[in-house]
Amino acid sequence: MEFSTRLDTSLHQTKTEALAVGVFEASKLTLEAQNIDRASDGQLTKVLGEEFTGSAGQTLVLRELPGVHARRVVLVGLGKEDEFDDKAFYKAELAFAKLCAQMKVKDACSALLSICEDANKLEDRARLSAQAVHDATYRYTETFGKPDPKKDVLLKKFTVTCARSNQANVKAGLAQGDAIGQGMNFTKTLGNLPGNICTPTYLANQAKDLAKAFKSLKVTVLDQKQIEALGMGSFLSVARGSEEPPKFIVLHYRGKGESSRKKTAPVVLVGKGITFDTGGISLKPAATMDEMKYDMCGAASVLGTIKALCEMAWEGEMVGLIPTCENMPSGRANKPGDIVTSMSGQTIEVLNTDAEGRLILCDALTYAEKFKPDAVIDIATLTGACVVALGSVNTGLFSPNDALADELLAASRKALDPAWRMPVEDDYQEQLKSNFADIANIGGPKAGAVTAACFLARFTKAYDWAHLDIAGTAWNGGQNKGATGRPVPLLVQFLLARAAGQND
Ligand code: BES
Ligand code: MN
Ligand code: ZN
Repeated sequence: MEFSTRLDTSLHQTKTEALAVGVFEASKLTLEAQNIDRASDGQLTKVLGEEFTGSAGQTLVLRELPGVHARRVVLVGLGKEDEFDDKAFYKAELAFAKLCAQMKVKDACSALLSICEDANKLEDRARLSAQAVHDATYRYTETFGKPDPKKDVLLKKFTVTCARSNQANVKAGLAQGDAIGQGMNFTKTLGNLPGNICTPTYLANQAKDLAKAFKSLKVTVLDQKQIEALGMGSFLSVARGSEEPPKFIVLHYRGKGESSRKKTAPVVLVGKGITFDTGGISLKPAATMDEMKYDMCGAASVLGTIKALCEMAWEGEMVGLIPTCENMPSGRANKPGDIVTSMSGQTIEVLNTDAEGRLILCDALTYAEKFKPDAVIDIATLTGACVVALGSVNTGLFSPNDALADELLAASRKALDPAWRMPVEDDYQEQLKSNFADIANIGGPKAGAVTAACFLARFTKAYDWAHLDIAGTAWNGGQNKGATGRPVPLLVQFLLARAAGQND
């Protein structure tokens, strides 16, 4: 996709297959829509009222308007004017981009950005434009026997309008959104790929390919023997049930200038990479088990975030850690009651083999200490309980550190990738007591998402830490079944803001 800008003067002369202009609720034309209306001798005014009111999500295509060079003018409903914010803008741009894909146009121009008069907001809005276009045009094609031409997207060029004085900001925003969109699409595809293709080895190869494409990224993949040598007994106990060899993927991103600078403390992202979760001996029910191929979306979001950073040539430094394996039942699998020794030295009683995410993450969290990190964020499809608590709207955010939690919440809001803070108080640790080991891997039926976070907290004492439970937000069930690419926008925003030293 090629993104570009166009000045917002003489809109009626824009040569494009589809031009979007906005209309607020109660048929209030934006300035851009008024321009087109004037140029076409009132063609827009004619359809207002009955046919088009400007309510949020509404679109209407007008073809070959007299006096207008664009082949189609698309009226996009913006909802109430005083409620028009970044989110409403994103929805409007998304609706237009989806329509462009449907109409099979090759190029399109949106004048929705020009509605915003606040120069400070324009970079964000431009970023959201590019993200919306990527979101609307993403197609999963990897595992179909023959391509379906109905699904083809022809859109190649997307232009947004703005004033001359804002061009630099808008271009920077587009570049960022383009990178984030590409990162999200990478995350989506990895999440959508089935467990028989997207194995731990496949994930490791994807990471290596990324490092081949971008000089700023170095990737090391540790194999079973090396993982054993590190003493990751908890991680390996999960991997043991599967024929697929486990991998521990270490990604080190150092942007331009970073490598020459003195060593800084990087943020470390740790992603759960269970490429298929059967539950193990504590086997899951059959009904929606297929969806457990997305149990590596934490890992995929780390890879997607790093891809986005690579694409935007970010100047900072960060580390990604991905413990990845399958959770399978077999003669060698963990059994309820088994006790394993984690890399930290703490012993764990595995009371339920389906609580495997925390078993692989705890060793990665201990490994993270070696980077003397500025902060460690783990991202995991960790608990069904988090889906019950927050549904698919908010990611569960857990951190004992108020400043870090606030930073992540601010990033989530700015990125339109919402998270909601949940508790990780020590009082919940009671539930994880074991009669036979230092800690049990489950805490009973109450507060399941919280006790999972509390389990992880036992391995994160050496640094500032936060945990994102994305079980509800990384995946859409039902008709739109598939990975969402979340929380890549949140993570990228967090890293960028932290590097810029602005915590707003
Ligand atoms: N991968 C699952 C969590 C999950 C469930 C993600 C549903 C997405 C949708 C995790 O490994 C798991 O099985 N957790 C158990 C924990 C329980 C045994 C304490 C769960 O949530 O049921
Ligand atoms: Mn599980
Ligand atoms: Zn799992």
